Amino acid sequence: MKIIRICKAIYCCKADSEKLIEFAENKTQSDSTIKVEPSGCLGACDYAPNIEIVDCQANKRKKYLTVTKGYLMSLIKKLRKAK
Ligand code: FES
Repeated sequence: MKIIRICKAIYCCKADSEKLIEFAENKTQSDSTIKVEPSGCLGACDYAPNIEIVDCQANKRKKYLTVTKGYLMSLIKKLRKAK
């Protein structure tokens, strides 16, 4: 399972992170191995909007900063290939 955590705190919210959440949910709704969830502040507010991807099996997490829909889509594709 991979979890895409999208920051919903104030700075990322102002940078349209809600739209990123909606986009990610739409793109992953048929994929049971990827879950999308809102996150609190990821500590990189200057670079909003930000996300964190958690790899539950490997117990690893990585932040991605200033994420656009295109960037998020490329990350989702990478997650699918890595299965
Ligand atoms: S508000 Fe999103 S990283 Fe701080």
